[in-house]
Amino acid sequence: MQIRKATINDAEQIISFKKKTIPICAKNYYSKDIIDHWTNNSTAEHLIESIKSDRVRFVAEEEGKIIGEASLNKEKNSIKTLYVDIDFQGKGIGKALFQKCEDELKKNGIKKVEIIAALCSESFYASRGYKKIKNKLIDFFGMKMENVIMEKEL
Ligand SMILES: CC(C)(COP(=O)(O)OP(=O)(O)OC[C@H]1O[C@@H](n2cnc3c(N)ncnc32)[C@H](O)[C@@H]1OP(=O)(O)O)[C@@H](O)C(=O)NCCC(=O)NCCS
Repeated sequence: MQIRKATINDAEQIISFKKKTIPICAKNYYSKDIIDHWTNNSTAEHLIESIKSDRVRFVAEEEGKIIGEASLNKEKNSIKTLYVDIDFQGKGIGKALFQKCEDELKKNGIKKVEIIAALCSESFYASRGYKKIKNKLIDFFGMKMENVIMEKEL
């Protein structure tokens, strides 16, 4: 498995594993309406826009297959997304991608990281030392979605 910067050519593969993974990971945390809205708005077009913008995005790749992705925003001191393909979870890939993001932020002199976490990933971030600050309803493509604000000093 290697971790590298994402390119726009990765977008279709990232979206394909996210659409498979989100409904399974989120089913005990969000309503069907929210999960449908989340997957329907996870599109290659949105992702390509984001890859072209100032967000830094990494992918985990194994034998040419994209099996994880993570992104961060240096200006906002935040890690924005982290997903591992449901068929490859539990093998250390999430941890490696997350470490890569924290290392990138550290390299840029950032001392405190903020994450707006989906409820389904809160326990993972807690296991990485992040403290819950508060719950927050965020606007996700026109629908309110409950998230958790978490922080850690690097
Ligand atoms: C959270 C997620 C990224 C973890 O990825 P993963 O590759 O399965 O995790 P890893 O195998 O690297 O696990 C690393 C460590 O975290 C722990 N861990 C993994 N998932 C966890 C969870 N949900 N809660 C608590 N701990 C967790 C593992 O036990 C392991 O612990 P260790 O370091 O003591 O061995 C993955 O489950 C996922 O993609 N979930 C859906 C993500 C999502 O909803 N994202 C939306 C927000 S942007």
